[in-house]
Amino acid sequence: MPVIAVIGGQWGDEGKGRVIDLLAEQSDVVARFSGGANAGHTVVNQRGRFALHLVPSGIFNPEADCIIGNGVAVDPASLLEEIESLQKASISTERLYISDRAQVVMPYHQLLDRLEEERLGGSALGTTRRGIGPTFADKAARLGIRTADLLDPPGFRERLAPILELKNAIITKVYGSPALDLEEVYTRYLDYGRRLRGYIRETHLLMQAALAQNKRIILEGAQGAMLDVDFGTYPYVTSSSPLAAGAAGGLGIPARLNRALGVYKAYVTRVGAGPLPTELDDTMGAALRDWGMEYGATTGRPRRCGWFDAVAARHSARISGFTDIALTKLDVLDRCPAIKVCTAYQLDGQTLTTFPASAAALERCTPVYEELEGWQQPTQDIRRFGDLPQRARRYVRRLQGLIGCPVGMISVGDSREQMIQRRPLLRSRAAA
Ligand code: GDP
Ligand code: IMO
Ligand code: MG
Repeated sequence: MPVIAVIGGQWGDEGKGRVIDLLAEQSDVVARFSGGANAGHTVVNQRGRFALHLVPSGIFNPEADCIIGNGVAVDPASLLEEIESLQKASISTERLYISDRAQVVMPYHQLLDRLEEERLGGSALGTTRRGIGPTFADKAARLGIRTADLLDPPGFRERLAPILELKNAIITKVYGSPALDLEEVYTRYLDYGRRLRGYIRETHLLMQAALAQNKRIILEGAQGAMLDVDFGTYPYVTSSSPLAAGAAGGLGIPARLNRALGVYKAYVTRVGAGPLPTELDDTMGAALRDWGMEYGATTGRPRRCGWFDAVAARHSARISGFTDIALTKLDVLDRCPAIKVCTAYQLDGQTLTTFPASAAALERCTPVYEELEGWQQPTQDIRRFGDLPQRARRYVRRLQGLIGCPVGMISVGDSREQMIQRRPLLRSRAAA
């Protein structure tokens, strides 16, 4: 009864969506447990190309239950739009369930996210402006609205009125922006509640039943370990925990995992501000962006690109206890004559092999590189590890050694079948 968490090992956008789409073919439940519509998970399969933000990437398996857990910040407008566009593509959303305890992203969260980024100006975090930080801050401050609240009109009004009064004081007095109208927000969100009612459930009970029945469960991580609010490049992080450890609390299940699959790109990218020690501000960085089509699935922003950072990779593997690794986008390196890997940092005359806490220290770190020869051959049509060019195999083995965890999957293109499976995580149902 495998429970597998699929977790980003870097700064997000590692290709979690495509890995989960593949694993979901053999799974019964796929559940999101953190983040919100800041996520953008790209899936390319026989049904088309999709960018999912809140709906789990298992939605293409009509037999799988897809759960949006209590740990997710749900933006109802964004979710309804996503459901509609899936239905237009004839993808059923009948087995989609949303936790009654999930926090709702309110219009003041999005507004305050934007106003605060504008106030910060040059030192902005570069958030996705989806209201994620303010929503999780309100959850902790006990000022949140939850999906269940939208289903109880009098209770919702009673809860919203004093919260909106406080938010409007901040919006008008701190930021000098116009106040939001209680009636407008109330009626709009009641309408969202009406439209989402059929999906809202006690999803922790569904999860617990699935566990009791030994179902095959995928826990879908969003963002990446380096954006974790504790272990990432704080304060340049997101506001929930993308780690495997966050999965239990974000779904209402015991902290028992069979496997934790860390997803890593064969190089690194980051959108938004904050330290990225191996960033390439040169033609190589531009080439990686170009070859990898590194533009955000949520905001369209160009992603910052750099060489694989094994110091950060080891850090994320340890804090999430990865048992397996999926290495994505190996094909993007096909044209590189030489490939560098960062094995340590130099900081103020010292060599560091562990990841420092301070963003200021990280900004001063310079990478220590090891250089490997590139393979300079196309890999997109290869499906077996042994068929990869010898230098590509050497690169994969080197990363595996540096991270200290076996690489079981390697992707060489964006579509579902462009995957080399060295160690299948799930036996096919026919074989099971
Ligand atoms: P996620 O947020 O972790 O699900 O990743 P994103 O979907 O935001 O970003 C990954 C991007 O890389 C998407 O555009 C994918 O279609 C693309 N992609 C994923 N795997 C591969 C691969 O092996 N090769 C190439 N060339 N592109 C890939
Ligand atoms: P997926 O699931 C990449 C980044 C933002 C910003 C920081 C804080 O697709 O991998 P937020 O809006 O969360 O307050 O922004 O986190 N960020 C992501 N970067 N992939 C993501 O999700 C991200 N979600 C948030 O760019 O730097
Ligand atoms: Mg993404």
